[in-house]
Amino acid sequence: MSYGLLKGKKGIIFGALDSNSIAWKVAELAHQEGAEFVLTNAPVALRMGELNGLAEKTGSDIVPADATSMEDLGKLFDHTLEKFEKIDFILHSIGMSVNVRKGKEYTDINYDWLMKGWDISAVSFHKVMKTAWDKDAMNEWGSILALTYIAAQRTFPGYNDMADNKAYLESIARSFGYEWGNKNKVRVNTISQSPTLTTAGQGIKGFNGFVDFAKEMSPLGNATADDCANYCITLFSDLTKMVTMQNLFHDGGFSNVGVSEMVMNRFEK
Ligand code: NAI
Repeated sequence: MSYGLLKGKKGIIFGALDSNSIAWKVAELAHQEGAEFVLTNAPVALRMGELNGLAEKTGSDIVPADATSMEDLGKLFDHTLEKFEKIDFILHSIGMSVNVRKGKEYTDINYDWLMKGWDISAVSFHKVMKTAWDKDAMNEWGSILALTYIAAQRTFPGYNDMADNKAYLESIARSFGYEWGNKNKVRVNTISQSPTLTTAGQGIKGFNGFVDFAKEMSPLGNATADDCANYCITLFSDLTKMVTMQNLFHDGGFSNVGVSEMVMNRFEK
């Protein structure tokens, strides 16, 4: 069911890789809710051509951009602003750790890989916002959103340096959110999502364990990618105008549970 929540709104959506991606679901729903947007991903991620189907379905342009490259981001925003003049929302749905990918333990981390993952997963959020800032790209009361995970705040072994990257990302949302609010009433938030079966998610060691544990701990169960897309749409809509500089848990209650009966039952003899 569509509510027309994003009617007339324009934006940029980073990070749709395949139909499991959270950004993919956000794009489908944003389209249904009346938004127009540009889709972007790293050039290497576009090689498979899967994004073309989503672009066709949503009537969107695809502009390749490595989110760590200020040059690529400049071109992406130029293209977008030529098309839309100004935009109302940005979704940053990007994450990658080379240490996770290559199975490096946290105690034996490779610092070159750490820097790369940090740049892609965290600093890119600053770079995207700085590009939008310099080009005066955002309409008043616009909304900028990134996706994060609770490992930024509590330890989850196996999440590795992504935990530190997410902590940095959440901090950027607060720091830049303050500036944007003062500049032109743009809000900046992060959504801390349940573990979700996507390409990025499945790269984490012991990921299925995370998923099952979170499910048994959360009174509402795990939030799916579709649920996450619904939440993103509310945050791009005018219904959440005064929400900014927040890390918003979207996790079926997981973050506020000490232990659940279902988990306790496993330990009772
Ligand atoms: P995904 O693998 O579908 O999306 C990650 C995206 O990052 C891909 O589209 C990939 O091409 C893009 N990316 C990687 N390097 C890039 C670069 N240099 N420039 C531009 N884009 C680049 O996985 P998912 O799960 O949809 O991830 C989206 C966001 O949600 C990420 O920030 C992730 O950390 C976050 N998240 C995911 C959870 C999960 O369990 N899947 C849980 C909580 C947060």
